[in-house]
Amino acid sequence: MSDPYRYLTSLGQALAAMSLYPGGHRARDRAVEASFEQLQDLARDDAQPQFSFLDGEVIYRRQIIRELTGWEWGKRLAAAGMQRLEFLEGVTRDEYATWLDELQQILAGEAPDTAEARQLVARRIRYGAVEVRGGGGTGGGGSIAVGPVGDPTAVPDLDAEVEAIRWIHGEVEALGRLPLLEAEAVVRSLAVAMHSQSRIRLPLLQLKTFDQYTTTHSTNVAVLAMASAEYLGLGSREIRAFGVAGLLHDLGKVRVPREILVKPGKLTDEERAVMQSHPVDGARIILEQDMQLDLAAFVAYEHHIMLNGGGYPTLRYPRDSHYASKVVHVCDVYDALCTHRPYREAWASERALGYLAERVGTEFDPELVEAFTRMIGDWEQRRSPLEEKSVNGEQ
Ligand SMILES: [Fe+2]
Ligand SMILES: [Fe+2]
Repeated sequence: MSDPYRYLTSLGQALAAMSLYPGGHRARDRAVEASFEQLQDLARDDAQPQFSFLDGEVIYRRQIIRELTGWEWGKRLAAAGMQRLEFLEGVTRDEYATWLDELQQILAGEAPDTAEARQLVARRIRYGAVEVRGGGGTGGGGSIAVGPVGDPTAVPDLDAEVEAIRWIHGEVEALGRLPLLEAEAVVRSLAVAMHSQSRIRLPLLQLKTFDQYTTTHSTNVAVLAMASAEYLGLGSREIRAFGVAGLLHDLGKVRVPREILVKPGKLTDEERAVMQSHPVDGARIILEQDMQLDLAAFVAYEHHIMLNGGGYPTLRYPRDSHYASKVVHVCDVYDALCTHRPYREAWASERALGYLAERVGTEFDPELVEAFTRMIGDWEQRRSPLEEKSVNGEQ
């Protein structure tokens, strides 16, 4: 029987042997060889094995491997910024040995953990961060300004979360697979960032280039949705579910062609129709996963529907939207208005709140807007000013 447990144990043994014996030592080579054989065994049943190391748990195919709870190597890998490990098909013995060398160096704190280095060695072995708050660095990301370094009032650095969200969108786009555990990890991490000081605050990101819109906006809407849920007195499980729903509300945009997403001018009728299909597509992608994500699916579907039934998509039988959808609708519009777009400057918070207030009763639920306005007044940290920095391509 092929067995992810046996493979990971062999990986741990290889890493241990590599830290004990110098290169070329027989014991070291044997351990590497044995681990490669276990990987090949595993690959017979699962051509592309994927693991996540989160919160002391080892996850394989969305299942926790109970025997490896608290597994020391899993914790070390996670702490070094490798919460996720994926093998594509056809990893060769040489590639595997080179990767193990690199892994060992990173674990020993010796190798620079850069995206370029990873690309060279790990073309068929992908690994990276999902959630590194309190852990190591991520590499990649690092391009969103969130306030001056060392300033205690600065909004926390969310590079790792942004990087993870970008990766999640990439997975959905390329493979049609929604990595739920990782999405939940991002939400947990955002919740930690919100509560990292004595008072709650909202670590909202400022958009720096239009290319970053989807990831920046998803992060902000997740934060705002969780904050709203908390402000409205919901329990911690619901707060997290609102966070996941906020994070995934625009997931359907992975199906919208990039030219339409980043088009600076007005959309044609045809383009608008494509853009407006994102709620239905998003809900479909979420429901296609065999997971309990009903709330996120509702929110993806309904977050552009207005209180009076306007907006889109048009429901054949008008009904009230889910409470969470109404909350995310408010957060969504607020963040969009406070964000710089090609056709207008970012609005100040007061102006955006004024916009919400004007549309109470028609577009938005009055009680929710009232609570949201108080929550922003109590918790929002003023957004940091724009910084001129280049950004590597992101969407
Ligand atoms: Fe949307
Ligand atoms: Fe949105």
